[in-house]
Amino acid sequence: MKALILSGGKGTRLRPITHTSAKQLVPIANKPILFYAIEAIVAAGVRDIGIITGETADEVEAAVGDGARFGAEITYINQSAPLGLAHAVLTARSFLGEDPFVMYLGDNLIRQGIVPIVQRFKDSTPDALILLARVPEPQHFGVAELEDGKVTRLVEKPAEPTSNLALVGVYLFNHNVFAAIDAIEYSARGELEITDAIQNMIDSGRRVEPHLIVEPHQAMVATWKDTGRLEDMLEANRIVLDDLPPRMEGTIGAGVRLDGKVILEKGCTLQNCTVRGPAIIGESTHIDDAYIGPYTSIYHGCTIRNAELEHSIVLENSVIEDVDGKIESSLIGKECRIGRSPLRPRAFKLMIGDHSRVELR
Ligand code: DAU
Repeated sequence: MKALILSGGKGTRLRPITHTSAKQLVPIANKPILFYAIEAIVAAGVRDIGIITGETADEVEAAVGDGARFGAEITYINQSAPLGLAHAVLTARSFLGEDPFVMYLGDNLIRQGIVPIVQRFKDSTPDALILLARVPEPQHFGVAELEDGKVTRLVEKPAEPTSNLALVGVYLFNHNVFAAIDAIEYSARGELEITDAIQNMIDSGRRVEPHLIVEPHQAMVATWKDTGRLEDMLEANRIVLDDLPPRMEGTIGAGVRLDGKVILEKGCTLQNCTVRGPAIIGESTHIDDAYIGPYTSIYHGCTIRNAELEHSIVLENSVIEDVDGKIESSLIGKECRIGRSPLRPRAFKLMIGDHSRVELR
């Protein structure tokens, strides 16, 4: 069995962060989302992994390397343009050969991993196994209709969904998926949709099995996230931080209070601050005279001084200093500086990238 991780595409919904970075490399609890996918696949016993890359190929390759540190062998496959999930599968055709494979969207996070799912696929050998979860806003996803436990119809992002069962970004296929992709046309949005390919498999009598990963009674417990949007990133961050064990590798100075589950990574320093977990403070980050509230991930090399931050993600080498009022539910990019102006007038002075969002009190 092989795996195909999709890490191409354009992360337009997470702009401006993804103007400069691959969305799959945005850290969740200080680890790129893509790494969770690789780890989940390796944990399920699959080591031969192809990664589809696009415009951000260099960055993805530099971050992941040859896969040795994950116990995997990685083959990079460049997709000429983000022409759809099924197009990505076609691009990987020679890598995949006749092997069955698990396809994993590199911006998805599945809390409980995929071990039982891969096992189910191996045991029941369907042509396709699709993962479904009940979601509150199915119009943002591929949506499945079931009858008597069988998949009857799949529609990609329907304006008026007829079911609340969304396709989760993990699919298992055997080689029959190629005939289905060959048979479909580009969709109205100009993509070769994997959803259409699976519908084609259903229509031509192939065995497509659904696997529900969130039972209705657990619907309030998000067990997976499509991390394309800020709200989803924060939610994914929350989910992962909730599961992480505490770790103390940093230096704790005077006046520090740590409440709940806190992870201090190597070389970080804390003084005169309260950190209320779950929270993670990255390598060589300095926190001074600050409050870091629950569900916050601060990445490597940051400085937070005289500021309060909660339920947020801060990327590497950013500085937040002398800010009145709490910053919350925010995603702050790499090398940003947020602080008080030394000069009057004390106005808001902003230099923010295209497509940024700033909400002021
Ligand atoms: O997250 C689950 C959803 O993923 C499913 O419910 C939908 O049916 C499915 O179409 C997909 O929808 P998205 O709109 O979220 O897909 P997105 O364009 O964000 O692409 C998902 C991942 O695949 C992302 O990591 C980028 C990568 N990708 C995407 C395209 C279109 C590629 O590598 N190549 C591509 O051509």
